[in-house]
Amino acid sequence: MPRPAIDLFHKTFGTIPRSVASAPGRVNLIGEHTDYNGGPVLPIAIAQRTNAAVGPGQDGDAGVLEAISTRDNTLVRVKWQEELPLGWIAYVAGVLRELWALDALAPLADRPVRVAVASEVPVGAGLASSAALSVAVAKALAPALTPRQIAGVAFRAEHDHVGVRCGVMDQTISALGKKDHALLFECASLDAKHIPFSARLLLVDTGVRHDLSAGGLNQRRAECEDAVKRLKVELPELAWLASWPAEWLPRLKRALREPLRSRAVHVVSETARARFGAQLLEQGKLKRFGQLLYESHESCRRLYECSSPELDTIVSAAKRAGALGARLTGAGWGGAAIVLVSTRDSKTIPAIQQAYERAYGKTPPISEVKASGGAHTERL
Ligand code: GLA
Repeated sequence: MPRPAIDLFHKTFGTIPRSVASAPGRVNLIGEHTDYNGGPVLPIAIAQRTNAAVGPGQDGDAGVLEAISTRDNTLVRVKWQEELPLGWIAYVAGVLRELWALDALAPLADRPVRVAVASEVPVGAGLASSAALSVAVAKALAPALTPRQIAGVAFRAEHDHVGVRCGVMDQTISALGKKDHALLFECASLDAKHIPFSARLLLVDTGVRHDLSAGGLNQRRAECEDAVKRLKVELPELAWLASWPAEWLPRLKRALREPLRSRAVHVVSETARARFGAQLLEQGKLKRFGQLLYESHESCRRLYECSSPELDTIVSAAKRAGALGARLTGAGWGGAAIVLVSTRDSKTIPAIQQAYERAYGKTPPISEVKASGGAHTERL
């Protein structure tokens, strides 16, 4: 719903916005930590969206950003070309810089820019709230750009300006998502294919929040770069870790020491699982697809070491209850898990709730997620 962003804009600035756009969060079905390694991902856009209302400020104050969100209700003014503020406004400033570089900011380029944001995507829950924010703001400011251009602007805002060493998955699915479809996205070739997906999928929130710019993602990425450097001795033309041939895993294991060996085995096997998973979905083989989700979780837990006890509790309980598949989604280290269940399944939800209550003394929020549409402008 765009209303809260429009109302906040009006209440704060006393004018109506020039345009409003919204963009969704995402869950990734499979293909975790493959995007920045040049591998495939298979995410869906979810129903929760971030809305951004934008408009020009008073004449004369070019280069100034005035931004407010329903979350903290505090108006912040920054010179977006000169300073990068802390927190969510950095993403907005990053988007402005990228649009400026593309010459896509007109007619706001010589005026202050006003932005009001309202979001339904929880922060730090592994649902790509920052991508939803950057994509929504980019779409509102430059509605004429293509979805791929919007994804590029949002990615560079986050990666180059805010300094999160993320891959392209989150911004891409937020811009290109399609109702009742997952997106098989090859992050090296940028090939994209929508694949029908309308199975019953649960989202379980651990409530454990993380901050990616400070956390393990940057460290894992550095480890993967190190692994590529060493593997280039074996295979000089290797450009991406995910391009290492799966049938050469024994050679890879010989060439690398821990922890690089485990990280690389995860990336190479997860790459194969994501491509195979997309084929299985196309053939309607949901049961086999579900098994891949369990395998992916195990690989994230054991090899990539990006799970958490809370996520493991959810996945084990789902498995014991007979769910088709379950795994952490997104970066990990907390956040959320997805659980694939048959339409008639009535055991999995109570089983997860019980196991979680026993371990942590509280019930985790569980909701059903549906593959939804990507970013679009909203009517004022
Ligand atoms: C975070 C990053 C994504 C991706 C996932 C792990 O969500 O933003 O680009 O790397 O982690 O798959």
